[in-house]
Amino acid sequence: MPLPLNISDNHLIDRFGRLHTNLRLSVTDRCNIRCFYCMPAENVVFRPREELLSFEEIERFVRVAAGLGINKLRLTGGEPLVRSELHKLIERLANIPGIDDIALTTNGLLLADQAAVLQTAGLHRLNISLDTLNEATFERISRRTGLQKVLDGIFAAQKVGFKKIRLNAIAIRDLTESEIIPLAEFARSNNLELRFIEFMPLDAEGNWQQDKVLTGQTIRDILEAAFCPLEPVERQEVSQPAVDFRFADGIGRIGFINPVSEPFCGNCNRLRLTAEGQIRNCLFSDVDWDARALLRAETKSGASDADLGQLLHDCVSAKQPAHGISENDFQKPNLAMYQIGG
Ligand code: GTP
Ligand code: 5AD
Ligand code: SF4
Repeated sequence: MPLPLNISDNHLIDRFGRLHTNLRLSVTDRCNIRCFYCMPAENVVFRPREELLSFEEIERFVRVAAGLGINKLRLTGGEPLVRSELHKLIERLANIPGIDDIALTTNGLLLADQAAVLQTAGLHRLNISLDTLNEATFERISRRTGLQKVLDGIFAAQKVGFKKIRLNAIAIRDLTESEIIPLAEFARSNNLELRFIEFMPLDAEGNWQQDKVLTGQTIRDILEAAFCPLEPVERQEVSQPAVDFRFADGIGRIGFINPVSEPFCGNCNRLRLTAEGQIRNCLFSDVDWDARALLRAETKSGASDADLGQLLHDCVSAKQPAHGISENDFQKPNLAMYQIGG
């Protein structure tokens, strides 16, 4: 496919013509809850602190990536807000030339305390996980208490001025059906955009099965029967995972992220950096591209920004066309969601 005229030679384009402009940075593998679709229940072995990239190392990596055309960042985890002084990292990233969008995906538990400082630091957008409005169900999913804190976090974020906050709800058969209508009512009455995300084989305990996926189409049918028709919204960007709709009565929007029933890999523009500094070209890749080794080699062997840039290019060149979840020979990746970053 022809590339836009302003794309230069050094941009991150893979063998299938996909231009990579979006970097998802995991800042920690730790989390303050234990959602069963992501983490093991107990005895999680977290990476030791010294294995995680420092803010200086992340900043340097992003400067190099921005020089290669990365312009959007999303901070993930684990739970990114458990990384101490995260706002200081955001301040550094917001000052990097070429970075024009910084977003955060959080479980919301620590958001009430941090919303103001995150906003001041330069965070543009927030996505908050909310799978249920029922405390007992919250505890069943996350194996911890805390729904009210999440709700407090959402309202605090609105109060300090975050616009277009998105709620992410997992879509798992026999779990999510009862949550769809209450979540949609909550989103519609609080000016929040709700998205349902199909369950992917990225849970730590290997419990994913194809028949546990509640498809976006099923949820759409439930919503249309309960409320009113859903009208398609024009895509803002071809690469966005979500397919968005508005309620025909004019109240609210809904998005569907359907990686299993309608894979969107053909338009993928995303790279990921794990908290310990490994670049991954896909959520479902098992190959680590060791940026940390280069970031820490400087004094010993003199790894340069050009070496880091080459590593990014090598990683992008090796990217597979699609995740292949529905293929017979599909292998679940070696890392679970909390270890890669969502
Ligand atoms: P915005 O469009 O900027 O809101 O970002 P987003 O929708 O990518 O952000 P978010 O972190 O909220 O993504 C929601 C979920 O979509 C993630 O937690 C993943 O479950 C899924 N997702 C995001 N990106 C990818 C991707 O590249 N591949 C797959 N398979 N799933 C993804
Ligand atoms: N499948 C789909 N989405 C997942 N998430 C975490 N684990 C999975 C999974 N196995 C998403 C959740 C959460 C975000 C941080 O990651 O929707 O909102
Ligand atoms: Fe991109 Fe991999 Fe996600 Fe497909 S599964 S959209 S290739 S990250």
